[in-house]
Amino acid sequence: MKRTIDEQGYHFEEWLTPAQIAKDVQQVADRISVDYKDKEPLFVVVLNGAFVFASDLLRALQDIRCEVTFIRVSSYYGMASTGQLEFIVPLQQVVDQRDVIIIEDIVDTGLTIHQLKAHMRAQGATSVRVATMLFKPNKLEYDDAKPDYIGREMTDEFVIGYGLDFDGFVRNLDAIYKVTDE
Ligand code: IMP
Repeated sequence: MKRTIDEQGYHFEEWLTPAQIAKDVQQVADRISVDYKDKEPLFVVVLNGAFVFASDLLRALQDIRCEVTFIRVSSYYGMASTGQLEFIVPLQQVVDQRDVIIIEDIVDTGLTIHQLKAHMRAQGATSVRVATMLFKPNKLEYDDAKPDYIGREMTDEFVIGYGLDFDGFVRNLDAIYKVTDE
């Protein structure tokens, strides 16, 4: 029996259970462990949404030596062409000559990642890759924002839970729920 949630007048149905999420996360961690075997990557967690995925992903990564830092940004969609990105919590760590892995909850249009990658490169990062729990390929507008490590690809529906919010709420749900038409 699928769990359901009603939030702000919308009906959501459980789409990925905690067990399914754990498998997806482990699969991402296994790939990163191989690719970064002899490196010491710096993970940059994009707040707020990615904190749950990052917490599971980093603990699924026991074979590599790494550092973790956090960043909080806000994108101006209406001003996308200006490349404006507001750093609410700026990068606190030097990324110069580091192999950076950005951790996101979901890549949608790719604007956030497009701008963050440019920022890390401008700061001298040796390499910048992206790990995301979810990816909506049909919505992608920036080619360079295609994630390198993807928990699961999905269609265009709005999802909540596992860090993903609806106006700030429901990040604490342990499963990922998809909005339904009913
Ligand atoms: P992008 O810059 O268009 O790729 O947007 C990425 C950000 O949009 C994510 O970090 C989320 O905060 C938000 N977002 C996109 N799709 C969803 C969704 O289905 N549920 C919740 N947040 C979403």
